[in-house]
Amino acid sequence: MNASAQPGASVGDRVFLPRRAVCPGSFDPVTNGHLDIINRAADLYDELVVAVFINMTKSSLFMVDERREMLTEAIAAKPNVRIDVFQGLVVDYCRAHQIPVIVKGLRAISDFDYELQMAQMNRGLAGVDTLFMPTNPEYSFLASSLVKEIANWGGDVTALVPPLVNKRLAERAASRRPGGTGGSEGSDGGG
Ligand code: PNS
Repeated sequence: MNASAQPGASVGDRVFLPRRAVCPGSFDPVTNGHLDIINRAADLYDELVVAVFINMTKSSLFMVDERREMLTEAIAAKPNVRIDVFQGLVVDYCRAHQIPVIVKGLRAISDFDYELQMAQMNRGLAGVDTLFMPTNPEYSFLASSLVKEIANWGGDVTALVPPLVNKRLAERAASRRPGGTGGSEGSDGGG
């Protein structure tokens, strides 16, 4: 983009549209690995949407509103990032919001096969491209599923997740112990 042109401004006969991208995921819950990708992608685009996928076929630990709340707090310092929730195909979300690019983090080669398949399918379906961003090696082992398991057994995940997520995981684990309130799993069917 012309360095002096703001998104939406016109210079001569050229209109500079904001460069938009979406970072989709389950974020159940968001980890520091996700935040690394979100923050770096936010520096590359004018507008970044972090889209929380509502998956009716998979049970989640946190309800979609809780996942959204934890993300909102974690990215508060990034004014060009907003959180949304979606159901259905990510390319339909992209079309509806005029977003040409999906950003995905790659932790290891094991992520690549499936991500490549999805990227090619999404490009074939709707011409939406995918930008793969290698995750910071510091987080290459990090996954929401591992974080949930460790926290559930009382392990320390402080260094792996933002503070609110750490707090919520601890509350959830405590509620499952004998004498706890027995917190229930989130189900996207229920919101
Ligand atoms: O955090 P996750 O669970 O790895 O995220 C996976 C997600 C939500 C990004 C992916 O499953 C997805 O894009 N789902 C939306 C449905 C869709 O578009 N499926 C077709 C992909 S080719």
